[in-house]
Amino acid sequence: MNLDLKNKKALVCGSTQGIGKAVAIELANMGASVTLVARNEQSLKQTKSELSTDLGQTHSYLCADFSQPDKLKELLDAFMQRYSPIHILVNNTGGPASGPIVNAKPEEFLLAFNNHLICNHILAQACIEGMKNASYGRIINIISTSVKQPLPNLGVSNTIRAAVANWSKTLANELGKFNITVNNVLPGATNTQRLATIIENKAAKTSTEINAVKKEMLHEIPMGRFAEAAEIANAVAFLASPAASYINGINIPVDGGRTGNL
Ligand SMILES: NC(=O)c1ccc[n+]([C@@H]2O[C@H](COP(=O)([O-])OP(=O)(O)OC[C@H]3O[C@@H](n4cnc5c(N)ncnc54)[C@H](OP(=O)(O)O)[C@@H]3O)[C@@H](O)[C@H]2O)c1
Repeated sequence: MNLDLKNKKALVCGSTQGIGKAVAIELANMGASVTLVARNEQSLKQTKSELSTDLGQTHSYLCADFSQPDKLKELLDAFMQRYSPIHILVNNTGGPASGPIVNAKPEEFLLAFNNHLICNHILAQACIEGMKNASYGRIINIISTSVKQPLPNLGVSNTIRAAVANWSKTLANELGKFNITVNNVLPGATNTQRLATIIENKAAKTSTEINAVKKEMLHEIPMGRFAEAAEIANAVAFLASPAASYINGINIPVDGGRTGNL
């Protein structure tokens, strides 16, 4: 099985902590040169310094805020002129705030739509021409299991994730013939800052102990534990590899069996 990413260039978004950082580390371990994307320059520098260079990989970073899609596009236009082709694009960023959908304000949907769908689209458009020329493309979107089954108290997120999944499937249909695959990884509850925040918010809102909230969440997971970010990254890294050449247009839940449907 060919998992070699030497001479491949990857753009990994939301990659200074959590799932995105674990993905960047794994792709670099497999030989890819990685460009990190996030807002905090200090964290970008720190993460870059942690990536493997054992196989001659060279890493870089872009400082971008996905709530400003126009600025992201400008930055990418300049970056791609000197750096194309990107062979592997991992679309990922911080999740929308939690809360019931009945209380969600219209601007919260618009913000999440920009951060998740519009920025994914701008990033994909920036990479596709280079992927076509290289005859190798992997677009992997980190979404959520809510694509298959909406999660309680994540109203805005549930709504926008569905749009991203349908955008992704449509793109997969259009790009398959160019050896560009487009797939979604759907993490379950994963030990990251995002999960810690969700648990803290729920505990505060329901006046429940943090451990009790955790216990309730764990009860729904057949494997009885949260994922580590590296376990999500393994699925992403496989999809990015030559070995995954015929996997296209699918959702892969990495959730310990939590999602109740197939
Ligand atoms: N953890 C879970 O249990 C879980 C489960 C299902 C789905 N997910 C989804 O998977 C994705 C990643 O989750 P995670 O837990 O790894 O999140 P995380 O720990 O909060 O990390 C988010 C990353 O995205 C960057 N980021 C946040 N806002 C950004 C913005 N406006 N522009 C550019 N970069 C931004 C952050 O860096 P900066 O702050 O430096 O920008 C950070 O590197 C999210 O969409 C999340 O909702 C997570």
